[in-house]
Amino acid sequence: MTVTGLISGDFTEQSEPFGLFGAWLKEAEASEINDPSAVALASVDEHGLPNVRMVLLKGYDERGFVFYTNFESQKGTEILGQKKAAMCFHWKSLRRQVRLRGEVEVVSNEEADAYYASRPRGSRIGAWASKQSRPLEGRFALEKSVAEYTARYPIGDIPRPPHWSGFRIKPLTIEFWHDRPFRLHDRVEFRRETPDGAWEKVRMYP
Ligand SMILES: Cc1cc2nc3c(=O)[nH]c(=O)nc-3n(C[C@H](O)[C@H](O)[C@H](O)COP(=O)(O)O)c2cc1C
Repeated sequence: MTVTGLISGDFTEQSEPFGLFGAWLKEAEASEINDPSAVALASVDEHGLPNVRMVLLKGYDERGFVFYTNFESQKGTEILGQKKAAMCFHWKSLRRQVRLRGEVEVVSNEEADAYYASRPRGSRIGAWASKQSRPLEGRFALEKSVAEYTARYPIGDIPRPPHWSGFRIKPLTIEFWHDRPFRLHDRVEFRRETPDGAWEKVRMYP
């Protein structure tokens, strides 16, 4: 995917969102202190109450936007229940925002295994040791759990925990926003009816 002339050119002329996202992320990687891949992730619980927290984007392509987590966490149970989520990137150094929302699928075991294997050993142990989002009586209990799993997996491979994997948001809308003087910002939304459908581009009032 190639997108040219974005810094000096007009992003609102782009005709598809993934290449444009890639170009903006690349520019954010060059200018953002930390962390250009940090993104607010919104889910919704069974009562319709929204919930938001930060995660790290670990991959994206035409299929969607991927992050990894504990499937027994609050976000994990909410997303497995509702099968919908939204993301919002804000790159302060560029004065840009990208937001997207859509249906969610679980990444393949092969994809999750490959990413899990790429993580530092301590993070792989941590994925076993943390009962993410559930009450923790004290720091010591967490350290004890880490010590137990370190003893269980002292050397060699560490299997991926069955409750730890990735979600892929397959966007139905992706909106690009860029700051302009006097709050007369540029906003372009790409939208489609289904995850396989054709994109329609709509420019919007700021
Ligand atoms: C910059 C940043 C990146 C984070 N990345 C992740 C991540 O990729 N996966 C994850 O499970 N939690 C991540 N967290 C922690 C989550 O924000 C959250 O505290 C945790 O996942 C529990 O959320 P939940 O109780 O809503 O499930 C990150 C936090 C910050 C501040």
